[in-house]
Amino acid sequence: MRQPALSATASFQALESHAATARQWTLRDLFAQDAQRFPKLTVDAAGLFLDYSKNRLDATTVELLLDLARERGVEQQRDAMFAGEKINLTEQRAVLHTALRMPRGNKLVVDGQDVGRDVHAVLDHIKDFTDRVRSGAWTGHTGKAITDVVNIGIGGSDLGPKMVCLALRSYAHPRLKMHFVSNVDGHDMDAVLDQVNPETTLFIVASKTFVTAETMLNAQTARNWFLRGAGEDALARHFVAVSTNTDAVKAFGIDPANMFPFWDWVGGRYSVWSSIGLAVALSVGFGYFSDFLAGAHALDEHFRTAPLAENMPVLLALVGFWNRQFLGCGSLSIAPYHQDLSRFPAYLQQLDMESNGKRVTRDGADVGVPTCPVVWGECGTNAQHAYFQLLHQGTDVTPIDFIAALRATHDLAGHHDALLANCFAQSEAFMTGKTADEVRADLRGQNLSAEQIEALVPHKTFPGNRPSNTILMDQLTPPLLGALIALYEHKTFVQGVLWNVNSFDQWGVELGKVLAKNIHAELTGEIAPERHDSSTNGLIVMAKAAQHL
Ligand code: F6P
Repeated sequence: MRQPALSATASFQALESHAATARQWTLRDLFAQDAQRFPKLTVDAAGLFLDYSKNRLDATTVELLLDLARERGVEQQRDAMFAGEKINLTEQRAVLHTALRMPRGNKLVVDGQDVGRDVHAVLDHIKDFTDRVRSGAWTGHTGKAITDVVNIGIGGSDLGPKMVCLALRSYAHPRLKMHFVSNVDGHDMDAVLDQVNPETTLFIVASKTFVTAETMLNAQTARNWFLRGAGEDALARHFVAVSTNTDAVKAFGIDPANMFPFWDWVGGRYSVWSSIGLAVALSVGFGYFSDFLAGAHALDEHFRTAPLAENMPVLLALVGFWNRQFLGCGSLSIAPYHQDLSRFPAYLQQLDMESNGKRVTRDGADVGVPTCPVVWGECGTNAQHAYFQLLHQGTDVTPIDFIAALRATHDLAGHHDALLANCFAQSEAFMTGKTADEVRADLRGQNLSAEQIEALVPHKTFPGNRPSNTILMDQLTPPLLGALIALYEHKTFVQGVLWNVNSFDQWGVELGKVLAKNIHAELTGEIAPERHDSSTNGLIVMAKAAQHL
C-alpha cells in the first residue's frame, strides 16, 4: 500500500506546530526547568548508555516523535526485516544482517532455506581457518607462518573490517599485521606491498559481487606481484576470497575451498558480521569475533522487543530526525573520544549516507522533505583543535554524537581522565555557550578598558544551544563495539522508515562507475575520445598528454 507523503501525516503536522514553539527554547532553560532531565532523557541497552538530554526537545517532543514512528509503521517494518521479508524492494531482497549474529540453533527460514544453519556453517569454516592461521598451522608455500594479512576490498568490504580491526587492536594477535587496500589508486597497493613479504602474506579478496572494478584490479596486481616469486600452485596458500559469487572467484583462480561465502541478503555496508569480517576473526581470534557478534545480537534483541519509548536506536533515530527535519541541521558530526574508533566516522558515512542518501520514497515519489544529513567527524580531542571552532561559533548548527568508553583499554596514567574531561566539557560548552554578560564579567578582571571589553565581547561570546548526544560504554570491548555498530544500523533503519526510503539499495553509485569505464577506455587509447563537455574533454587531454611526457 502506498504510504501517504510524510508531510501530510497527522503526526508530522503535529510536530510542525510543536516545532514552532520548540525552536524558541534554549537548552539552558530546559535544564534549569527540570532537575530530572538527565534521568528522563537517558536510556540503557546492551551495555550502552545514551544521553540525549542535551537536545532541544522535551517530553512532549519525544511523545510526538513516537507518534510519528508509530504512524510510519516502524514496528511493522522492523518485524518484517527480522522475519526476512523482501523489504529491499528495488532489488527484491531480504535484509538479514541480524541473522548473521543470531546464536547457533536459532532457526530462520527464508525462501525455504534455514539461514541460521547456513550462517553457522560458514562461521565454523571461519573458525577452522582462522585458528590454523593464528596458531601457525596454516603456513605460506615455503612453510613459514603468516605474518601479514592484506584485505583487498572497498566500501563495505573494507570500511567494516578495517574499522573493527583498528577498534579492537588491543585484542589483536601479536604476529599478524593487518593491512587494507581499497583505493584503485596504485599508491595504496604500492605502500602495502612495500611492507610485506610474499612468503608470509595472506591476501583476502573481499567483494560481495566480485566484479567491483577497484577490487578486481587490486587483486590482479597482488596476484601478479605474488607470482613473480612463486608458481601458480602456491596461490592457494596465499589467496582466499570472501564473496557471494562463486563462479567469479573460481575464474579468478581461487580454490572454492578457500572461499568464504555470504548471501545477497547481506548489504555491503551491513556485512562486517559475515565472512567479510574474516580479517577481524584473523586479527582478534574467533572467540572475540563471536563476542562481537553476540554484542550486536544483544542490541538486536533490544531493538526487536523494547517498547519504542525505551528503545535506544529508535530514540537516537527520532532525535536525529528532529534535528534534521525541524531544526534544519544539514549535517551530523561524529566525535569518538577514543582513538581506536578513528575509522568509525568513515564507517558511519557509508552506513548512513549510502543507506538514506535518497530523494525518492519506496514508491518512487519525491520524499518532499530533506533526508539524510551529511555525516562526518574525527576523534576528540584532535577535532577540538581543528574544526570545533566552527561548531561552537560558526553560522550553522551541527549536532554532535560524542562516543566514549568510561575505562581505557591501556594502562597509561593520567590520559583517560583528561580525555573524558574534554568529552564532557565539550558537550557542556555546546549546550550552555557563554553569554555576552558572562564574557564581560570575565574580562573585567583583566585590566582592560570598557571600550576594549566591548570590542572583544562579540568574539568571545558562544551562542550555545547546540544539540548533542553522548553514548557511553564501559570499555571498548568486542561485544560493546558490536552493540555500538548495531545501534547505528538500527538508527539508520528507523530513519529510513520515517522517510519511507529504501535504505538498502545504492543506485546512486552506478552512473559514475559507467562513465569511469568509458573514460578509462579513452585514456588508455582503446577507443577514440568521446565528445564530452569541454571540461571533461580538457581534463582527458591533459591526462593523455602527461602520460606521453
Ligand atoms: O558501489 C557501492 C558498493 O556497491 C557498496 O555498496 C559496496 O559496499 C561496495 O560497492 C563494494 O562492493 P563489493 O563488495 O561487491 O565489491
